[in-house]
Amino acid sequence: MDGQPAPEGVDPNVPNVARMYDYYLDGKNNFAADRAAADQILQLFPETKRSAKENRDFLARAVRHLVDQGVDQIVDLGSGLPTQGNTHESAPGARVVYVDYDPVVCAHGRALLADGTNVDILHGDVREPGKLLVDLADLIDFGRPVAFLMLAVLHFLPDAEAYPVVSALREASVPGSHLVISHAIDAKPDTTPEALQIYRRATASLSLRTKEQIGRFFDGYELVEPGLVFPKDWRPDQPPLVGDNASSIGYAGVGVLR
Ligand SMILES: C[S@@+](CC[C@H](N)C(=O)[O-])C[C@H]1O[C@@H](n2cnc3c(N)ncnc32)[C@H](O)[C@@H]1O
Repeated sequence: MDGQPAPEGVDPNVPNVARMYDYYLDGKNNFAADRAAADQILQLFPETKRSAKENRDFLARAVRHLVDQGVDQIVDLGSGLPTQGNTHESAPGARVVYVDYDPVVCAHGRALLADGTNVDILHGDVREPGKLLVDLADLIDFGRPVAFLMLAVLHFLPDAEAYPVVSALREASVPGSHLVISHAIDAKPDTTPEALQIYRRATASLSLRTKEQIGRFFDGYELVEPGLVFPKDWRPDQPPLVGDNASSIGYAGVGVLR
């Protein structure tokens, strides 16, 4: 995005979490300040790039699972900048609603994703689930199963917001609905405070959680096999390479409402 004027209301000097993530994924939708902050994170956690890619691969496999289960309504919350392997590409024919609170993400989404009748981009904040559900009611039939995706977004919300949001979504969902989550953990306690500091200067602070705390988001849901695991270990397309026991900086899982 260098060389282009920043869109109105966007300060290119404040690192933006959507654009930092885009940089981890080798995207081009980022400014110098995003890259500088992301490079600081990569110094502390070089595995971040690999983890971002593994997160996107998990997304594709989880969405294919939803489709196999007959789910044809998917709401991708905190969807991020369009990249390779977007949700609707893994769910052809399903209604997909992308939701993000970042106006730049929504503008890019509208330009690149909303090419089909079944794809919508909604500017919305997951911290306001009441408003979000009202807005979604025009696009989603809540009388039928729906899948909410919350990948790499709940760790931008403190407990007082994160748990009530997920409860509100569950209460709006009928049996057969799904919840898909990936979430960062405190993988290196010695290094984490520095990373938290970098995100505090960006557009959203991090609230890292333990595996047990992440598991609590699935209260009321049944976790499908293999449960809450490193994203790369959730139903991998190929068996892991011998000796590849690399750990991850997050957990991922899929729950179904019975
Ligand atoms: C790290 S990116 C993850 C993108 C995508 N979900 C993925 O996992 O590949 C986090 C996204 O969440 C969005 N986000 C953060 N807080 C949000 C909120 N309160 N409401 C809506 N979107 C939010 C950011 O704008 C960003 O696009």
